Amino acid sequence: MPAIVVVGMQWGDEAKGKIVDVLSRHMDVCVRYNGGPNAGHKVVFDGQTHVHHVIPAGIHNPGTLCLVCDGLVIDPKELSVEIDGLRKRGVRLDNLHISQSAHVIMPWHKMVERAEETKLAEGKIGTTLRGIGPCYADKARRWSAVRMGDLVNLDVLRTKVPPILQHYNAMLACVYGAEPLELDAVLAECETYAKELAPYIGDTQALLQDAVDAGKRTVFEGSQGTMLDLDQGTFPFVSSSHPIAGGACLGTGVGPRDINEVIGVVKAYTSRVGEGPFPTELHGDAASNLREKGREYGSTTGRPRRVGWLDAPCLSFAARVNSVSAITLQSVDVLSDFPTVKICRAYRINGKEYTRLPSDRSLLNLAEPVFEEFEGWTGDITGAKSMADLPASLHSYVATVEKVVSAPVAIVSVGPGRDQTILTDAGKKLLPFLSV
Ligand code: IMP
Repeated sequence: MPAIVVVGMQWGDEAKGKIVDVLSRHMDVCVRYNGGPNAGHKVVFDGQTHVHHVIPAGIHNPGTLCLVCDGLVIDPKELSVEIDGLRKRGVRLDNLHISQSAHVIMPWHKMVERAEETKLAEGKIGTTLRGIGPCYADKARRWSAVRMGDLVNLDVLRTKVPPILQHYNAMLACVYGAEPLELDAVLAECETYAKELAPYIGDTQALLQDAVDAGKRTVFEGSQGTMLDLDQGTFPFVSSSHPIAGGACLGTGVGPRDINEVIGVVKAYTSRVGEGPFPTELHGDAASNLREKGREYGSTTGRPRRVGWLDAPCLSFAARVNSVSAITLQSVDVLSDFPTVKICRAYRINGKEYTRLPSDRSLLNLAEPVFEEFEGWTGDITGAKSMADLPASLHSYVATVEKVVSAPVAIVSVGPGRDQTILTDAGKKLLPFLSV
């Protein structure tokens, strides 16, 4: 039975939520392995749009076990809001389990991040201000980390929090001139959310290992994208976790040989939010046009996304680092009616041509894209049901992307809805359960 990782191959926002939702309807287990409330995974069906931050997109399938594993950072308040929102819409949450080893985003993480980003001014990362980086930094520092298991054990929490708060209050006052946080208020807030979340917190490793041993079908839902990976992305303009497929092992406790397939999710163009290099970025009217057509505004922060053409050096790197078995090509409908579409096949940097992503990612700031142009496609393709319904020039685009990533396209997505998902011949072979 397959264990499939779904991974973003760009800078996030590739529509992983949709693919995970489509797969989860045939899966026994759906697992989140990285990130936290910075993510915004959109699932659209029955005229409703659900945006998930921490809860796996598979939660809409009542038979799927949904695990929020060790590699996540969780803001208890935001998670309570997310749980509440789903409950109000009638979504059942009895299959939801949250790792006791996931880390807690504490109030000081968000305060420090906001202060740091303000102080960095022009040099800022452009984070989502959800406390992600400071929380992962505490995980690495260890003594100052709070985990979900601590949150629901008030004796542990009352011992742990005072020295951490003392450290942060000193930093907030001395470095940022901010008001200190009150210990009693912090503990009272923790207590409120601990009560609400306690029923979900437990040993997700055991649940996942049992599922793997029993041969259950499992989908690992990556958040963000390869180019935002802390080690492999465009550092320092990255997130602080491991979105790449290897992160599924780090963040859950499964071994690499328990994973059978990796599906890379690629948007037919590129977008990124926040600062950092983006060699194929469009500007002016061309950018506004694509942004409006693709409704490219952050699902979590509402920020307008930067947009541009596909970037072959990035995609071939992502295909390699994730060992993708196949890819899904998203939002091809958005590119409809562009007379030509472009793919950057190489960068020119200081007079030299690079077809491979330079390991010194800062060189990307100097990269001039070398584009290849392709004939565009026209008309409304959002109702297409099979590859035969798609125009020839889109078929050529799909073939070019397959060449870039050296892997087949398994799914072509022509809109956000579940029924706007076309399985290719390669997809039928790789994911036969989707065609029944
Ligand atoms: P952080 O994850 O909030 O620390 O933000 C670091 C960088 O990652 C910023 O450029 C964010 O805009 C970007 N980022 C974080 N999460 C997402 C996501 O889910 N989609 C797209 N970009 C993201």
